[in-house]
Amino acid sequence: MFNNTLSLSDFKLLRGLINERSGIFLSDAKQNFLAIRLNYRLETCKLSTFKEYYYYLKYDPKGNEELQNLINAVSINETYFFRDSEQLNIFKNHILPTLMNNKSKQGKRELKIWSAACSTGEEVYSLAMIVSDVLGRAIVDWDVEITATDISTSALVSARRGLYDDYALRETKLSYLNKYFEKSGSEKYQVKNEIKKLINFGQINLVNTLSTRRIINMDCIFCRNIIMYLDMESRRRVIENMYRSLNQNDGYLFLGQAENLREIESPFQPRYYDGTIIYQKQVGVGLLEAEAA
Ligand SMILES: C[S@@+](CC[C@H](N)C(=O)[O-])C[C@H]1O[C@@H](n2cnc3c(N)ncnc32)[C@H](O)[C@@H]1O
Repeated sequence: MFNNTLSLSDFKLLRGLINERSGIFLSDAKQNFLAIRLNYRLETCKLSTFKEYYYYLKYDPKGNEELQNLINAVSINETYFFRDSEQLNIFKNHILPTLMNNKSKQGKRELKIWSAACSTGEEVYSLAMIVSDVLGRAIVDWDVEITATDISTSALVSARRGLYDDYALRETKLSYLNKYFEKSGSEKYQVKNEIKKLINFGQINLVNTLSTRRIINMDCIFCRNIIMYLDMESRRRVIENMYRSLNQNDGYLFLGQAENLREIESPFQPRYYDGTIIYQKQVGVGLLEAEAA
């Protein structure tokens, strides 16, 4: 096996590039992690030192393409179906019914949901299954638009495929398994087309304000288990971008269980449901008004 040592100075150069491109921040303790994840990239690029790899990324005409491979290699894609089930129950039993009720009153039968760091797809398929379950047959009367994005192109390939093993389904109820999956071979489960067709996948870097501006009027954004990997300034930018992408009325932001907005100044209002926090956009308040208030 190819095995190269990563010096502290090269580690700092590479983590700087990663941070610039994605907002991901690797602490000093991650030096070994980076070396392990990048040995394979050096081998593929036929380079023998990390310094050469750094210069390749920065100055080679193919450097930009390789930077994407670097981000794919360092992003943590851990996820599974129905992760943080308490939160998803709140989405199912409180937020969705409230949204549907309010929208029905206004005669607007549309629902827009964004899984903003969808990784290999388990989160967004879980959301689509919940929406399908709650709406039941009425789903044909609703315009349901579910968007799923991630910075990692390799994670998105798996997400679009929608093929999973037992481990990804470890928290999935049998009723969901039977209803929304087809067995594929002896060990895999394929998400059914009726769920897949509700979702549009694409690549978005959440730190990049311009690309997040394409996503507007969302009713719910799931931005879970990502800001904890970012530096503080990038966290702020992502939260600001999420605020902008939400619907003016009744827009909800879901963060991961280990994440919160305590250290990030933002106009979001925390709402407490059985000990779980969901953040709500202040009704009728845009970012500029909120900043001026
Ligand atoms: C741990 S996974 C979270 C998956 C899912 N949201 C969940 O909670 O199970 C974190 C994801 O964030 C993505 N990510 C990291 N930085 C990002 C950025 N700047 N923009 C978009 N996605 C990013 C990674 O590629 C990875 O797939």
